[in-house]
Amino acid sequence: MTLNTNKNTKTTPQLIDRFGRAITYLRVSITDRCNQNCTYCRSPKDTFKERGDILSYDEITRVISAFAGMGVNKVRITGGEPLVRKDLTTLIGQLSGIDGIKELTMTTNAVLLSKHAKELKKAGLKRVNISLDTLDPKKFSELTGGGDVAPVIKGIDSAIEAGLTPVRLNTVLMKGVNDKSLGEIIDFAKERGALLRFIECMPMRDGLDWETHYISIADVLEKPEIKERVDTQAIQKKVKAAAFFLPLKDGQGDVGFISPMSNRFCEDCNRLRLTSEGKIRLCLPSDKDFDLRSAIRDNATITEIQELLQQAVLLKPEAGEYNFNQGGRKKSMVHIGG
Ligand code: 5AD
Repeated sequence: MTLNTNKNTKTTPQLIDRFGRAITYLRVSITDRCNQNCTYCRSPKDTFKERGDILSYDEITRVISAFAGMGVNKVRITGGEPLVRKDLTTLIGQLSGIDGIKELTMTTNAVLLSKHAKELKKAGLKRVNISLDTLDPKKFSELTGGGDVAPVIKGIDSAIEAGLTPVRLNTVLMKGVNDKSLGEIIDFAKERGALLRFIECMPMRDGLDWETHYISIADVLEKPEIKERVDTQAIQKKVKAAAFFLPLKDGQGDVGFISPMSNRFCEDCNRLRLTSEGKIRLCLPSDKDFDLRSAIRDNATITEIQELLQQAVLLKPEAGEYNFNQGGRKKSMVHIGG
């Protein structure tokens, strides 16, 4: 297949939904496979797509070129776990060559990162977000279904060394799992100059006992180990409606707080998602998507793909609908990407 990397860059956003929101950010899941089984992300019942069902690197590059020609300037690679897909560096090299993509980043669990951090940086990856929910080896193993925290710490350090910075650490808050050890994650991030963000758990998986585990950002801000370290009275630096930063008391950085549940941020949503099987996911919690793969495999031109994207964006719902009924969710987070 020939690659059309669409050098005719248009920077003005052209993908505008029915509510006037301009899409400038695309999250791309390149595989639904993962080398961990985090309880909040993946159900033991989840099965994986076959190889032929997922988009090839060339197909992904074509779709992103089409998006870039319509004003998308930020792309985040997600999974499953992106590093379990072979030759990820090749894809990163292809994507970093697309005109208009100013920010190319990745979300990873970092288990395999230490081997690849340098080559990824060299290929054009700018930064990484790394999932780190606990530093306690026993809890880490329980939460991830047998995972080992040591390679993750090595992966974080290698990302910093390779200059995939500022490294962000994502901690999904779970009562009874990690809510008693948030202070040590703050200290760990501070020592490394990494930007830590606490994220409210979303009911994104069938069978997850979400209600038992959910803890809000407001409750976290009341915890003594947080108050000891974070200036909770400081003026919040807002990034988005549902994301803000507060400074550490010793002035050695900030901590981020993201509240997808207690404070929705639909009104300033600027993103779409591309799943590994080539569907546009219009909204994270809503199981509604738009197939692109059949058109891509019918050799649609970039212009034809862009016409489909125009149709897809108009289907983006005004607000996300979480499905709290166990058994009612079609897709786990592992199939969508963070
Ligand atoms: N709730 C909140 N965040 C989640 N992520 C995955 N599943 C959930 C969930 N149920 C996010 C985490 C993780 C990234 C891959 O996706 O931030 O780091």
